[in-house]
Amino acid sequence: MKVLVTGGAGYIGSTICSALIDNGHEPIILDSLVTGREEFTRGKIFYQGDIADKDLLEKIFSEHPGIQHAIHCAALIVVPESVESPYEYYRENVGKSLELFHTLNRLGCKNVVFSSSASIYDDVPNFMVTEESPLNARSPYARTKYMMEMILKDFCSAYGMKGIALRYFNPIGADPKMRSGVHVQFPSHVLGKLVDVALGNDPVFRITGVNWDTRDGSGIRDFVHIWDLALAHVKAVERFEEAFKDSAAIDNYLVINLGSGDGVTVKELVKAFENVYGKEINKEEAPSRPGDVPGAYANADRAKKLLGWQAQMSIEQGISDALKWGEIRETIIKY
Ligand SMILES: NC(=O)c1ccc[n+]([C@@H]2O[C@H](COP(=O)([O-])OP(=O)(O)OC[C@H]3O[C@@H](n4cnc5c(N)ncnc54)[C@H](O)[C@@H]3O)[C@@H](O)[C@H]2O)c1
Repeated sequence: MKVLVTGGAGYIGSTICSALIDNGHEPIILDSLVTGREEFTRGKIFYQGDIADKDLLEKIFSEHPGIQHAIHCAALIVVPESVESPYEYYRENVGKSLELFHTLNRLGCKNVVFSSSASIYDDVPNFMVTEESPLNARSPYARTKYMMEMILKDFCSAYGMKGIALRYFNPIGADPKMRSGVHVQFPSHVLGKLVDVALGNDPVFRITGVNWDTRDGSGIRDFVHIWDLALAHVKAVERFEEAFKDSAAIDNYLVINLGSGDGVTVKELVKAFENVYGKEINKEEAPSRPGDVPGAYANADRAKKLLGWQAQMSIEQGISDALKWGEIRETIIKY
């Protein structure tokens, strides 16, 4: 199956492309490289350009007739940056995605899988969220994801498109074959920071927020291995039609949580990290930062029912792959 993957030079998109290839499919990457890495596209079909570039999309579809599915990962993704630069975030993530969906529809590519985020959920008392849990997108970044879900839903009901919004929880690790992984030099997410401390790039790991109403006071997350996450996208395109049939959906739009289904606290992650790493790391407790939330974990039943997918890989595997990737990254990426 030919699949257009926007953002296929990024952390998640590139891993999805590897998973598609390993499963006999043909990804066609569209990425501007605004944050992504050219190194991740090598050996793959790659067009450098913007998702809002209609002429380029026409060229892609004429050179690769028969693309029926698009996986739309391209976006800007840094929450604090989105607070400082909302215009850029709404322009890049909302304005340009709107144009992309419009062009896809015009070119007859009616099936869209969209990278959404669990960051749009509100806090719930037991921390477990289903797809029906209340939403409360609390940053411009999260609001771009929420808005794009609504836009996709409206396009599906008006234009005969079909959309699946996949709400990712906390992706960790790297491609187990080490073809790709986290590419930013100074990662802002928790496991990236732990790896940085272990590799001596950062002096201390801060557990920010230790007074939440969780079992040990630290925030709760749902860590899902990036390879599991990538395989869910393979299932989403392979089972696209069946997913709609099995869901008895009344419209052409589905939302599916992609998480492991297990809540793990930040302190538990640090402990697991130290076990895998074999040493204690330098760490300290610190107050929560403005905008921090206690967190959530997924009820992942719908992914199992509709995609036949559930996370298989352990948190230890994710940590070990992240460490391995941290060590070899600079042999692959030339900063
Ligand atoms: N990483 C996470 O923890 C996480 C969690 C939930 C959801 N997501 C979503 O997953 C998707 C991928 O995230 P990622 O972590 O791989 O980020 P990333 O920055 O590694 O990848 C994003 C890719 O999109 C490309 N891009 C951005 N704007 C573009 C444009 N206008 N035209 C063409 N290409 C463009 C970038 O060059 C980059 O390669 C995003 O939509 C993000 O919102 C990520």
